[in-house]
Amino acid sequence: MRHLITIEDLTTEVWDELFASFTDIISHPGDYADACRGKVMASLFYEPSTRTAFSFQTAMMRLGGSVFGFSDPTATSASKGEAMSDTIRMCSAYADAIVMRHPREGAAKAASLFSEVPLINAGDGAHMHPTQTLTDLATIRRLRGTTEGLNIGLCGDLKNGRTVHSLIMALSRWPGNRFYLISPRELALPDYMLAFMKQRNQWYIEVTGLDSTIPQLDVLYMTRIQRERFTDERAYNRNRGIYILSEKMLARSKPDLIVMHPLPRVDEIARDVDSDPKAAYFEQARFGMFIRMALLLRQTALPRLAPDYPKPNPKKPLCKNPACITQTERYLPPLTHKNGAKLCCSYCDAALRP
Ligand code: CP
Repeated sequence: MRHLITIEDLTTEVWDELFASFTDIISHPGDYADACRGKVMASLFYEPSTRTAFSFQTAMMRLGGSVFGFSDPTATSASKGEAMSDTIRMCSAYADAIVMRHPREGAAKAASLFSEVPLINAGDGAHMHPTQTLTDLATIRRLRGTTEGLNIGLCGDLKNGRTVHSLIMALSRWPGNRFYLISPRELALPDYMLAFMKQRNQWYIEVTGLDSTIPQLDVLYMTRIQRERFTDERAYNRNRGIYILSEKMLARSKPDLIVMHPLPRVDEIARDVDSDPKAAYFEQARFGMFIRMALLLRQTALPRLAPDYPKPNPKKPLCKNPACITQTERYLPPLTHKNGAKLCCSYCDAALRP
């Protein structure tokens, strides 16, 4: 694994290596205090973040490395019209690894085409968030002891919840996992994710009721309704507050259920749940720092490698997804792949024809 763009880039062998490293770092953090001495991480956040940005930055600091970057792109030459590809080329000349978050779907894939150093996707629009998935997998494995044979409820905005998309892809690798997809119809999982699961014969069920599903679950993964992804405020207002998990609702749950959330939360988990032993979300966020330490340790040790820089695209973008990175970074070459019978954009994964 050179770049981590989607969780599909992570082999099971690399996952086992990262989890072993994560476990050792938690047990012996002092042994790693100089592990990245002299290494530099670029932290490029084109979109707001608390956990991902700070956990990556503190992960690098705890490894003895250094960090530069931005949390506001208007303070960089992007505000003068610099293309994202040039920013990435520059930062890859200065850093040993790049961590990038961007509001556009497929931005991480696009950036990786211009980077000499490993690029890590810290979230690209509503598309993917693979290091949140590493955090989630580490939490499930540590607290439940396995990533197999689990009943997993995913609740909330499954359409726009990039962490949900990456987590389903990851957990589909292990046998016996069953997904309960709990959402209102208009916030259901995107077609490309349903196609992904059908292709793998992955067991799943789409339901609208949270209360009635809780008793069956081993893991409940709550997500917020993502206001910033809605183009229609009325649609947001129709769905806001639709699921609110309370401590009372956990009364009929299995005794060893864990409640997870990538955070930030708005109102989908009532505060009375925070003190319940089943609440795992704050511990989950702390595990995120340790798994990112394991990831940075691995990725910053990889050699610098100049990519085959792509030739500019003289035509209009092929992808019709208005949120795709190709709509704004118009020099990007068209890249496609097949998902089942459908031809898809290789940046954002949207089908080229519905
Ligand atoms: N979980 C997560 O991505 O949180 P931030 O948006 O605060 O980074």
